[in-house]
Amino acid sequence: MSIQISPSILSADFANLEAAARSVSGADWLHVDVMDNHFVPNLTLGLPVVESLAKVADQPLDCHLMIEDPDRWAPEYVDAGATSVTFHVEACAAPVRLARELRAKQARAGMALKPATPVEPYEDLLSELDMLLVMTVEPGFGGQQFLDVCLPKIRRARELIARHGGEIWLQVDGGVSAETIERCAEAGADVFVAGSAVFGADDPDAMVVRLRDQATAASTKAR
Ligand code: DX5
Ligand code: ZN
Repeated sequence: MSIQISPSILSADFANLEAAARSVSGADWLHVDVMDNHFVPNLTLGLPVVESLAKVADQPLDCHLMIEDPDRWAPEYVDAGATSVTFHVEACAAPVRLARELRAKQARAGMALKPATPVEPYEDLLSELDMLLVMTVEPGFGGQQFLDVCLPKIRRARELIARHGGEIWLQVDGGVSAETIERCAEAGADVFVAGSAVFGADDPDAMVVRLRDQATAASTKAR
């Protein structure tokens, strides 16, 4: 299981996203939070910004869609240049159809669960996915406090993934920092989104290295 860090540009300077991407050159991904002010009470960016960012960033884009009707919009994010597209199951009419559509476009298909959404009902869908995202805050804003109450779900999700023998990545997003990342890694997460912890650091790239080292150590110890 290899550990990956995906800094969320939600906490970066939106007036200079190219510089933000450069400031985390050691990151595995750039996490792009798309919010529509309907699925979540916040509005961020959409297709044109993703398209521009994809042209200037060296890292692949990990687009997290916190929007209604992802069935309609998610495939367009692949066309805009995203390598991974994650939709919320709570907003999705046909998750299997959508995941297949994303994969048919050669993108990685991710499915996200809000803190109150259980993972068990989706066990049979895991084989359709490349990544499962367990939110560790209520989606909508950066800089919120990590919800420890989500840790058992990360554990159960890891067990379900192991049972199905898939190569599915398990991502966590929300309140992930040097203080909380070890708990997530011990529970079985392997892809870590961090916004304020990375872009709020004096040296964002050094924080990426630090978070990856901490998660790698905690995950090795747990296994
Ligand atoms: C929240 C977003 C996150 C956010 C995380 O809804 O999905 O990606 O940027 O920010 P931090 O790491 O500050 O909690
Ligand atoms: Zn996110």
